[in-house]
Amino acid sequence: MRSSLRKRILVTGGAGFLGSHLCGRLLALGHDVLCVDNFFTGSKDNVMPLLGNPHFELMRHDITFPLYVEVDEIYNLACPASPIHYQHDPVQTTKTSVHGAINMLGLAKRVKAKIFQASTSEVYGDPEIHPQTEEYWGHVNPIGRRSCYDEGKRCAETLFFDYHRQHNLRIKVARIFNTYGPNMHPDDGRVVSNFIVQALKGEPITLYGDGLQTRSFCYVADLIEGFIRLMDSPDEFTGPVNLGNPGEFTIRQLAEKIIGLTNSSSPLVHQPLPVDDPRQRQPDIGLARRALHWEPVVPLEEGLRATIVYFEDLLRRGLA
Ligand SMILES: NC(=O)c1ccc[n+]([C@@H]2O[C@H](COP(=O)([O-])OP(=O)(O)OC[C@H]3O[C@@H](n4cnc5c(N)ncnc54)[C@H](O)[C@@H]3O)[C@@H](O)[C@H]2O)c1
Repeated sequence: MRSSLRKRILVTGGAGFLGSHLCGRLLALGHDVLCVDNFFTGSKDNVMPLLGNPHFELMRHDITFPLYVEVDEIYNLACPASPIHYQHDPVQTTKTSVHGAINMLGLAKRVKAKIFQASTSEVYGDPEIHPQTEEYWGHVNPIGRRSCYDEGKRCAETLFFDYHRQHNLRIKVARIFNTYGPNMHPDDGRVVSNFIVQALKGEPITLYGDGLQTRSFCYVADLIEGFIRLMDSPDEFTGPVNLGNPGEFTIRQLAEKIIGLTNSSSPLVHQPLPVDDPRQRQPDIGLARRALHWEPVVPLEEGLRATIVYFEDLLRRGLA
């Protein structure tokens, strides 16, 4: 018999970096987890440790097609997140954000499930205010190479709020800022994974531009705690809410920290800044602090150590 506290939870994109951590955390909390993924950027390796758990189910499915399942909650994470991957097939990226959101919102409506959207700080584009609060509408190029991702995610937010207003759907929208940790892709071009792999291989570390652009880095365990708190918050609280770590570092500082932690002799080399690359990116997490009593607790150095261990293992197994 199902315990009344045990929920049936769908995680789309559950075999990806964030999704695999979320599935593990939900299982640990005693829920039944249905992980749906088309394995575009995710992999079975990420959820391998969960496969033996009778409360875990893995389904190959592309969310641009409708899905009919019975669930109590939906975490919609499916979408390639790194520029290399989302620019590989930009039309599919927009379809995943927009058609995927329509399909998942339709499912939530049919089965009266609560639904969470993994939105992104990219909805702020190249921000003119710093740090960004949720009231800021953004400064986004609608026709650039990043637009399939940025505008797709913006449209998904629109759909979530229209389903909420029009159909009383219970929605939760998180705007996620740069997150790192084990299960990141080794070759997705994201700055933390890039630098760690380059440092461990003793290869030059590539800084785009002068390396003085800033980013904030949130450790994955902290972020997942934020997801759960947001999903469990009162129905009136829909978000959007920023989830990220406000600690700000320049890309150069990050590179130097990683070189130190890996005892690497990699030199720093400079390459031109990609088009539309934001100069600054820092979350204002005042709302998350107030509404969810949430803030990140894992220091950058501690998170980097755990991530370095993961990449060392991948390199040993010839997978990076
Ligand atoms: N990691 C971050 O720093 C970050 C920041 C902001 C937002 N996000 C958002 O969080 C979510 C998860 O990101 P991630 O870092 O885990 O990325 P990821 O690429 O590791 O995971 C995305 C997962 O979605 C799957 N997927 C892609 N298209 C799909 C489709 N059409 N149908 C089914 N599955 C599909 C991929 O195979 C993958 O497993 C994404 O929506 C991303 O936009 C992540």
